[in-house]
Amino acid sequence: MRPVIELGVNIDHVATLRQARGTAYPDPVQAAFCAEEAGADGITIHLREDRRHIQERDLEILSRTVRGWLNLEMAASHEMLTIAERWRPSNCCLVPENRRELTTEGGLDVVGQQVHLRDVCGRLAQAGIAVSLFVDPELAQIDVAQALGVPAIELHTGKFADAPNVQVATDELLRITRAALHAQTLGLRVNAGHGLHYTNVQAIARITPIVELNIGHSIVARALFSGFSAAVRDMKQLITQARQ
Ligand code: PXP
Repeated sequence: MRPVIELGVNIDHVATLRQARGTAYPDPVQAAFCAEEAGADGITIHLREDRRHIQERDLEILSRTVRGWLNLEMAASHEMLTIAERWRPSNCCLVPENRRELTTEGGLDVVGQQVHLRDVCGRLAQAGIAVSLFVDPELAQIDVAQALGVPAIELHTGKFADAPNVQVATDELLRITRAALHAQTLGLRVNAGHGLHYTNVQAIARITPIVELNIGHSIVARALFSGFSAAVRDMKQLITQARQ
């Protein structure tokens, strides 16, 4: 038997749909409940500086209701640090954040920000939060992550997921595999995520040093079509009943 691999479900895009209309629904808190009922080991949310999807209210409720781990992705900023210390999710993943990006575009430059990150990681650890650093599959980044004393890294799988052809995908898979083995040798917990979907996930899930995958967009997109027919049926039934 290969070692167990955990699934963290990222529910940001349930909140994206809610924020598009400023309604109370769909509620990411309900999505977290459904995800855990369906076997998710943990819930991941990204509280962005521009609050485009997840709100602090979501973090507040989820920090009290999620039964598995709650992983807060956040920028290593003063504002986010204060919020993390207030709600104390079990895990924090530090990510780079760029206001105009559609999603997190690359890994954190751990090598270039060692002094700042040492301070942020130290404060999060003091609050009892397990920290991971979201990095590209580069050995130098992983070496510095270990030197900072964090328990985990998350490998950015975006380049693999977005590869324009099989050759690039194969090269990226090799880079991710080497990085995962290197991190494991250094004693780090190895997580991975970004851009994983129903046809590319198994290549990553086969890399045994990886023990956790964080997946969001593809799950929310699939859920839309698993439930679309029933949602239309329910609405049709309601308006028909109103005429009876
Ligand atoms: N892991 C990290 C660190 C991320 O920033 C994201 C996107 O918020 C994910 C995983 C999930 O990516 P996706 O939504 O493409 O599955």
